Amino acid sequence: MEPRPANAAADAAPNAVPDDAVSVRDLEDLAQQMLSDRTWNYVACGAADEVSLGWNDSAWRELRLAPRVLVDVSGVDTSTQLLRRRFAHPIVVAPTAAHRQYHPDGEGATRRGAAAAEALAVMSTLGSTPVAELGTAADGPWWFQLYVQSDLDFTARLIDDVVAAGAEALVLTVDTPLLGARDRDRRTSGHTVDGLLPPALAGVPPSVALPPNPRPFERIYNPHLDPSLTWETLEWLVDRSPIPVLAKGVVRADEARRCVDSGVGGIVVSNHGARNLDTVVPTAQALPGVVQAVAGAVPIVVDGGIRRGTDIAKALALGAAAVMVGRPVIWGLTVGGQGGVQWVLDTLWSELAMAMGLLGAPRIDDLTPDLIWQ
Ligand SMILES: Cc1cc2nc3c(=O)[nH]c(=O)nc-3n(C[C@H](O)[C@H](O)[C@H](O)COP(=O)(O)O)c2cc1C
Repeated sequence: MEPRPANAAADAAPNAVPDDAVSVRDLEDLAQQMLSDRTWNYVACGAADEVSLGWNDSAWRELRLAPRVLVDVSGVDTSTQLLRRRFAHPIVVAPTAAHRQYHPDGEGATRRGAAAAEALAVMSTLGSTPVAELGTAADGPWWFQLYVQSDLDFTARLIDDVVAAGAEALVLTVDTPLLGARDRDRRTSGHTVDGLLPPALAGVPPSVALPPNPRPFERIYNPHLDPSLTWETLEWLVDRSPIPVLAKGVVRADEARRCVDSGVGGIVVSNHGARNLDTVVPTAQALPGVVQAVAGAVPIVVDGGIRRGTDIAKALALGAAAVMVGRPVIWGLTVGGQGGVQWVLDTLWSELAMAMGLLGAPRIDDLTPDLIWQ
């Protein structure tokens, strides 16, 4: 009989999730049971027919691995460099809105869970916790995801607040000038405002002034999203920000290159968890072209459908420096608060280490494209 593997995550975050949960997907149903239909559909939905939502998942699964054998993997080391810091592993909490919808401790629990799992956390502009509290919630490093507001003076003050609170980079979301047709969400909630009123945006004038009776084509805009965001805004931000700026939501190789030329510190290959434009390319397929175009000039992070350590190993083999995880962190937060977040990240971390050992790739640099079967 083979020895039973240890459940490393359960040891690290005891009682945070039920004993029979072993992989992050095991928390999905539990989270659904604990949330109202309205909140669940907001989290789970993709845009329109959810074609890309399915592709985000299947594109990772369909990549086949070609492991090396007879490699000494007695010292698997998942540590990696990202911007100016060394991290224990390349798994990052993606920015998602309004964490108090899922747990009363909200973003504080997420920050603490991430810190306990030695993970970087990216906190959303649409979070439900004031920026200053994000900074003091935990000791670990964090970045801030920025939705630029059309009032650039307000945006500049927000950047100053975020930097004063200790964020080490800004992640500018470039793929959301407006929201997509989130039909599943709209069926239960009737509208698609991202969660609660975000304290980071208190007092900001709406980015779009809608007429009193908007016509159908005018109803596409969201008051918190600036639809006039352009490359000039990105360049303004790079110039204005004392900390590195990453562009989140790039899938095209030509635009990844243009981001580098605009001075970004990194690129996040993302399709917003397939929540905006349905039938957009899945990130696993977009990643190689971006990696090639950027040619190592800046680190590339990828998100969308990352649910397993093997997904992470594939992303890194294809040239990503790190991955971000969105919905699974929300499932963990819902089910177990801070400990649930830690459990999700620890589980992915131990699965990544397992995958690296079984791939004959004991260090992050050993994850190279030949590990993907051609
Ligand atoms: C409920 C929810 C809220 C989100 N809110 C934001 C946000 O405020 N800002 C942002 O840049 N991305 C947001 N995203 C997108 C995530 O940052 C990330 O790109 C996506 O969730 C990754 O896909 P995954 O959920 O399959 O891991 C959100 C995603 C979800 C599921």
